[in-house]
Amino acid sequence: MSKIVTSFSEYQDAYKQSVENPEQFWSAIAEEFTWRRKWDKTLEWDFNKPEVKWFQGGKLNITENCLDRHLPERANQTAIIWEPNDPNDATVKLTYQELFDKVCQFANVLKNNGAKKGDRICIYMPMVPELAIAVLACARIGAVHSVVFAGFSSSSLAGRINDASCNIVLTSDGGFRGGKTIGLKSIVDEALEQCPSVEKSIVLQRTGEEVSMKEGRDVWWHDELAKASNNCPAEEMDAEDLLFILYTSGSTGKPKGMVHTCGGYMVYTNYTFRTAFQYKEQEIYWCTADVGWITGHSYIVYGPLSTGATTLMFEGVPSYPDMGRFWHVVEKHKVNIFYTAPTAIRALEKADLSFVNKYDLSSLRVLGTVGEPINEEAWHWYDEHIGKGNCPIIDTWWQTETGGFMISPIADVTKTKPAFATLPLPGIQPAVMDADGKELDGNGLEGRLCVKFPWPSMARTIYGDHERFKNTYFSTFPGKYFTGDGCKRDEDGYYRITGRVDDVIIVSGHNLGTAEIENAIDEHENVCETAVVGYPHDIKGSSIYAYVTCYHDPENDDTLRKEILDLVSRTIGPIAKPEKIQFVSGLPKTRSGKIMRRILRKIAEKDTSNLGDTSTLLDPGVVEDIMQGVL
Ligand code: WT7
Repeated sequence: MSKIVTSFSEYQDAYKQSVENPEQFWSAIAEEFTWRRKWDKTLEWDFNKPEVKWFQGGKLNITENCLDRHLPERANQTAIIWEPNDPNDATVKLTYQELFDKVCQFANVLKNNGAKKGDRICIYMPMVPELAIAVLACARIGAVHSVVFAGFSSSSLAGRINDASCNIVLTSDGGFRGGKTIGLKSIVDEALEQCPSVEKSIVLQRTGEEVSMKEGRDVWWHDELAKASNNCPAEEMDAEDLLFILYTSGSTGKPKGMVHTCGGYMVYTNYTFRTAFQYKEQEIYWCTADVGWITGHSYIVYGPLSTGATTLMFEGVPSYPDMGRFWHVVEKHKVNIFYTAPTAIRALEKADLSFVNKYDLSSLRVLGTVGEPINEEAWHWYDEHIGKGNCPIIDTWWQTETGGFMISPIADVTKTKPAFATLPLPGIQPAVMDADGKELDGNGLEGRLCVKFPWPSMARTIYGDHERFKNTYFSTFPGKYFTGDGCKRDEDGYYRITGRVDDVIIVSGHNLGTAEIENAIDEHENVCETAVVGYPHDIKGSSIYAYVTCYHDPENDDTLRKEILDLVSRTIGPIAKPEKIQFVSGLPKTRSGKIMRRILRKIAEKDTSNLGDTSTLLDPGVVEDIMQGVL
């Protein structure tokens, strides 16, 4: 672990070197891994095409780095601690040897069911150890995993399966989440009616509920395991071969399948995990995210396991059986590093402090946050009541597209500042741009956040749509990667992320595209047109406000609202349901027909003192009407 900085001056030196000689910097770090063949060329890039290749010619398998290479030293060390939804059920601990055996065995199950290198395999599963095993088993045989968060609807699932033409789906009968069970297999059944590419579905038993199994397509996980050996040599992969696809929402309706590749992703998630958290041997690390999001991919599975860390997976929710569950788990497993989302902190902050204080949190050394800007109040509560003033808060700014942390403090190295993601990690070169596309020099300024040099784990493309990749990320500011976020850079050069500047709304840390929600609502037979905006919400960060015009006046507003909510739930998932739906006579539009979301946003925020110029609107009268009826 020699290349990890441990003091601020080492950070400054590493940063300087990473900018002056990035290839030398990253190849020294990459050399710490197991490669079947060393790379010929460290980096080739052109942000205009855009094209980025790291460690070209290098051959590896990421699972050899997450599993095989640890066995001589840590076969009996715990790799995964699994905490079930119900605190009275047994915890599962898998050692590195056990995890290795299970991954190899399930890799053989995949092969026995026809999986080959390069196939796309969709994973739609609850937070059980088999989810991590499935992810790694895909990587073991060179199949590309596409994990879909198990809260998405059947139609979202079908869209993602079809976009990548997956041939296998891995799922379970159902999943437990707090007091509820979710029938995942029946959602898969519905999705697969529209997915001709799927030949097999492998079904894990979790809840024991009754499910229908389609002859010739559906097989039971346990039956298949019984037939499979646990000897499975890893497939040799090129550094730039696909490792996985993960979908994220965008400004237009269709989710983007972000493509990540083997070599650079491995190097960067490992490096940033060790650096930002300063992970120490034997520590227990817990990231509360779901493996269905990038946070789970990079910092539950790949980063920690490639480090040889002990990573905790939690099946449940923070509020079950009560609001003390997180703190109970911290005490029970003596968690040292705890990584969660601001939305969870805000929700737990509202609960009585006795839920925190009855547990012993003294094992905690580092706290982390991710997913959206953390407000100062939540930052201070986290610091005071959870960290007891002793734990650095690592506010990690990054994205599905970036694969790993970009701007983040380094624990006990970077001086933190409430609500600031602080400084770029080594290798990351941010640029703040003004509205005219000029890069701003110096400090004490605000603008749009770009990155001007490649880093190893950046997404390489959008699956099947390179043109969209280019348009979305590399055309707003030519020659630079545009993040979609706004930021401030203060007098100390510290970054504070101010939020999205595009049509993406972050609700409880989940990325949702306005167009995607609008399209779903527009499917209602009585809905003519919809405009969706975000507005501030105490706990969720942002909430969704939908302005809807109808073909004819609804007989009952509440009935129509309920139908719309059901529709959004079924089309995208419950996380995309608007908090407020206002029926309006018209939407404010420019003469060219563009909806003026800026105005709608202000009205939703109840900040109508300064609506700006409305005179260019096609029909200025509608604004008055909307303001009258605001919810
Ligand atoms: C967007 C990316 C990265 C994993 C989870 C979300 C926002 C993320 C922070 C942070 C302020 C943040 C940004 C970003 N975001 N982390 N620490 N401070 N904003 O991944 O779904 O791809 O969303 O989340 O707006 O662009 P994602």
